[in-house]
Amino acid sequence: MDNHEHLLIRAAFKKPVERTPVWVMRQAGRYLSEYRAVREQAGDFLSLCMNPELAAEVSIQPLELMEVDAVIMFSDILTPLMGMGMELSFDPSPKFLNPIKSERDIEALKLVDPDVSTPYVGKILNIIRKEINNKVPVIGFAGGPFTLASYLVEGEGSKLFSKFIKMLFDSPQAAHALMSKLTQMTIQYLNYQIENGAQMVQLFDTWAGILPIDDYMEFVFPYVSQIFSELDKKSEVPSVYYINGGHQLLKAMSKTGATVVGLDWRYDIGIANQLIGKDVALQGNLNPNILFCRPEIIKKKTAEILSKMKGENGHIFNLGHGIDKNVNPEHLKCMIKAVKELSKR
Ligand code: CP3
Repeated sequence: MDNHEHLLIRAAFKKPVERTPVWVMRQAGRYLSEYRAVREQAGDFLSLCMNPELAAEVSIQPLELMEVDAVIMFSDILTPLMGMGMELSFDPSPKFLNPIKSERDIEALKLVDPDVSTPYVGKILNIIRKEINNKVPVIGFAGGPFTLASYLVEGEGSKLFSKFIKMLFDSPQAAHALMSKLTQMTIQYLNYQIENGAQMVQLFDTWAGILPIDDYMEFVFPYVSQIFSELDKKSEVPSVYYINGGHQLLKAMSKTGATVVGLDWRYDIGIANQLIGKDVALQGNLNPNILFCRPEIIKKKTAEILSKMKGENGHIFNLGHGIDKNVNPEHLKCMIKAVKELSKR
């Protein structure tokens, strides 16, 4: 089967579709009791990421339970950094025991063939492809180099990013060296996923939204553009570029070479479509917390987003950020059903 026959892939390339495809960031996750049971069986989150059979199983759960239009492989944006020599733990939020402090630490980061550093990722993709037999496409992903760098320098998640901002402007040479190394790793890692069966890839650059446009153009744009330009099979495998809270960067995001721009929930998707919809498809963008409301509200808010896109091609429905662990799965089902019914052409 040609990749272009999938609804999701056609939407990503702005081709005609019968209805809007839908999947959800973090769709394989703690809101599902079925996920929690398998994570328990694996022991902990990282063991689950590194167990190909169980990681494939939780990746496929939302296809069976929620009837989404894509399966995203189960992993984390930070796992490939272990292959570079970083010591990572999750509790459940991520922590690095040896954060990057100096240029010497950056030089010490290893670039290893992904087949050697993350062999479990290739295996997960192969198992998923075999098990779902092209029912829907499989999405691979990586973290944006800026987002990865922010975790490496801070050692954990952050609100202020004080250490990372200090590195960017006090030691721009070090910051560029780090961005450059992470860019090389990410190109190898995403092409390895494409080689192993990923049919769309998403770059999660969650934290790039903390920068104003000038700094973004200096520290992020060239690296992200290089990633998108060096991906394999570009005419077949579309790419998505997601930033949380990056509306000041919207135009720049559309010029990175990504096929699709992923929006968070704060921006009006109709306006985004007017601004960049000629160049890229759009993914998004329901407020994830709407899923805590009653079903009629979920349906109404879903309808509002679909109507802002006016049935135009080039829309992949998603939340504006990952689904929360306390959401009732029935509420997600309600959103998915509403997208499928209300977007019929
Ligand atoms: O979308 C999917 O279903 C695929 C799997 C996936 C996970 N994380 C699983 C996960 C993906 C694509 C990610 C991306 C990711 N991870 C991002 C970018 C997107 C975003 O959310 O902004 C970031 C910043 C991370 C880093 C990370 N991993 C954090 C901050 C946390 C803790 C979150 C929390 O809610 O506690 C994780 C852990 C994590 N990654 C979980 C899952 C399902 C929860 C951990 C668990 O099951 O114990």
